[in-house]
Amino acid sequence: MRAATDKSGFALALTRWYASHARDLPWRRTRDPYHVWLSEIMLQQTQVATVIPYYERFLARFSTVEALAAASEDETLKLWEGLGYYARGRNLRRAAQAIVETHQGRFPDTLAGMMALPGVGRSTAGAILTFAMGQAHPLLDGNVKRVLSRLFCFEADVNAPRSQETLWDYSAQLLAPSDDPYAFNQAVMELGATLCTPQAPQCLLCPVKDFCEAAAKGAQHELPRKAVKKPSPHYDIGAAVLWNGDRVLIQQRPRDGLLGGLWEFPGGKREGDETLAETVAREIREELALEIRVRDKLISVKHAYTHFRITLHAFDCDYLGGEPQARCAEAWRWTAPEKLRQFAFPKANNRVIDAILARRQDASTLPGQTTPPHDAPSPALR
Ligand code: ADE
Repeated sequence: MRAATDKSGFALALTRWYASHARDLPWRRTRDPYHVWLSEIMLQQTQVATVIPYYERFLARFSTVEALAAASEDETLKLWEGLGYYARGRNLRRAAQAIVETHQGRFPDTLAGMMALPGVGRSTAGAILTFAMGQAHPLLDGNVKRVLSRLFCFEADVNAPRSQETLWDYSAQLLAPSDDPYAFNQAVMELGATLCTPQAPQCLLCPVKDFCEAAAKGAQHELPRKAVKKPSPHYDIGAAVLWNGDRVLIQQRPRDGLLGGLWEFPGGKREGDETLAETVAREIREELALEIRVRDKLISVKHAYTHFRITLHAFDCDYLGGEPQARCAEAWRWTAPEKLRQFAFPKANNRVIDAILARRQDASTLPGQTTPPHDAPSPALR
């Protein structure tokens, strides 16, 4: 076995492998800092296959950083819809505005300057500077941590604050002798994404197996070590698909916070031993000051967030009276079902929209049935 600190041998073996095995990814065909930055933000905690269509749609709509800076937050979130971790989408637009307003439209060319942009941490900053400007900066994202923990047989929790300095140091040691930081950093990420994977690392195909302490000891399956996660709590959420004639009420979540700026069907967590129908009526009274009648359940949808899981139970409801008060929301709106897709919703809410639209489709194709006519607008319509 060769030590991973036989660094020049390591860098050479890794980059040679990359030259013949690299996937052809859209952001590897460009050095444009705007494109590279966009890809690196999207790739945070998100897999390549998920990112590609979002990356292409984003650039088709906003071909320059100036175009993104001029976009509304609503439009940015609509394009981000389904990609998750929505603070990234909000920060993206803020960073574009900072680049246009304080950097004359040019991306910073230092680590400190890059890290001052909203949403850009040290590893993302290093990746952008390497991939767009050819600078040499070590990386330390989830994939790289896994590769390093195996190469160096690093036994401590890779996410513990105390481990970070050592891991950054390993990353820098490996990169230092490489004369092609672009290829080296892409290659480490590629190795983590394709061979040195979490569950079934393919050590037989690995170009740097001879440098890997974990492979030498057969310990690759035990690494990286992570603190045992607390089981994530589950909440039942009751939500209203609240009809006023042929329109339905949606509200926008507060801009800062979980899913900030996204739209949703109003509702909330079930409390104590109330029924879900009681949850819906209570939430709508407390949050919007509306009186409603809760009818049948339309659909239940399960969804897992990073730190908790939900089952969203959506009920058809009738509006009885009152003027909506946005006590817990940024805004509210009565909307025709066909227009719901114009707004950005969290995933579980989009399944509710699917159910609303599928039912209308069914109703309009059944012989002798028509969709109900629009009621006269009530005072609460706007
Ligand atoms: N993950 C983060 N950056 C990446 C890149 N440039 N290519 C593939 N996966 C990545």
